[in-house]
Amino acid sequence: MPFDFQSMRSRPRRNRQSAALRAMVEETSLSVADFIFPIFVIEGTNKKEPITSMPNIFRYSLDKLLEEIEECYALGIRAFAPFPSLTDEHKDSMATSSYDPENLYLKTITAIKEKFPDVFVMTDVAMDPYSSDGHDGIYKNGKIINDETLEILGKMAVAQARAGADYVAPSDMMDGRVGYLRNALDEAGFQDVGIIAYTAKYASAFYGPFRDALDSAPRFGDKKTYQMNPANVREALLEAKLDIEEGADMIMVKPALSYLDVISRVNQNSHVPIVAYNVSGEYAMIKAGAEKGWIDGEKVMLEVLLSIKRAGAKVILSYFAKEVAQILSKI
Ligand code: PBG
Repeated sequence: MPFDFQSMRSRPRRNRQSAALRAMVEETSLSVADFIFPIFVIEGTNKKEPITSMPNIFRYSLDKLLEEIEECYALGIRAFAPFPSLTDEHKDSMATSSYDPENLYLKTITAIKEKFPDVFVMTDVAMDPYSSDGHDGIYKNGKIINDETLEILGKMAVAQARAGADYVAPSDMMDGRVGYLRNALDEAGFQDVGIIAYTAKYASAFYGPFRDALDSAPRFGDKKTYQMNPANVREALLEAKLDIEEGADMIMVKPALSYLDVISRVNQNSHVPIVAYNVSGEYAMIKAGAEKGWIDGEKVMLEVLLSIKRAGAKVILSYFAKEVAQILSKI
């Protein structure tokens, strides 16, 4: 029997005929306002150190970092997530330097807010950059001690708020930390300082280049007793429920690319903005593929970032932020 073309009334290709039509029916798009740019700060002046596993991303001394932010600002980027890269003399088992008002990180936050008052600064709350054990919590007798860690995280968050942080972002995965930090911030008078919770942060191999950049790899063991098992998605809904009840203003899924289903599920089950962290290993893979000439780096980057938004993330932390802003500013 010949195929009855007459009966084929619905032709999805119709809506793909022209660029104008395609643009009109496009469901998702990227905007520079969606991005938070993670940036690395080091001690010293006039320093711009490359990171081998993250081409085009550098560790900057504060003076150079401010110049980099100025360039990003001109491209429309208004949100930054600084991370400190510290030498061993600033590390101990209790991460005491993390709330020392004279520390590099806090001085950096203040300097950024002074120079760019309308920039949004999201700060990282976790012990690892300051910990001689390289863990996000206190390590004692082979265990990460949850409740004592909260006290340190509380001091760290309040110190960051005092330095000018707009929102603090606990990336440590201790239980109860969002509620603990909310309470600590409120008691110190920082009701307007919000919390972006690293809600579903997985024990992932995709953090490798970041740990190189910060020299923050765990000195022993792994992070599996606090970061989530990559096999689990229902557990992410439990973490999301708790973080929101405890007062999180936004919740994050990290990494992004291998966890698009988690982003989607968390988005459908909550009413706060979803943040996704397009992490260092995801960045490195695309850069490596492009350097080899095996993929078109720019196109793959845009497709990946779009997929993260399509999955349900409103905000994306990405090392690609500046490159995307350059592309978007040309359109
Ligand atoms: C740790 C932290 C990590 C990242 C951000 N904060 C690494 C880890 O948990 O070991 C990773 C970010 C990236 O890979 O881009 N507090």
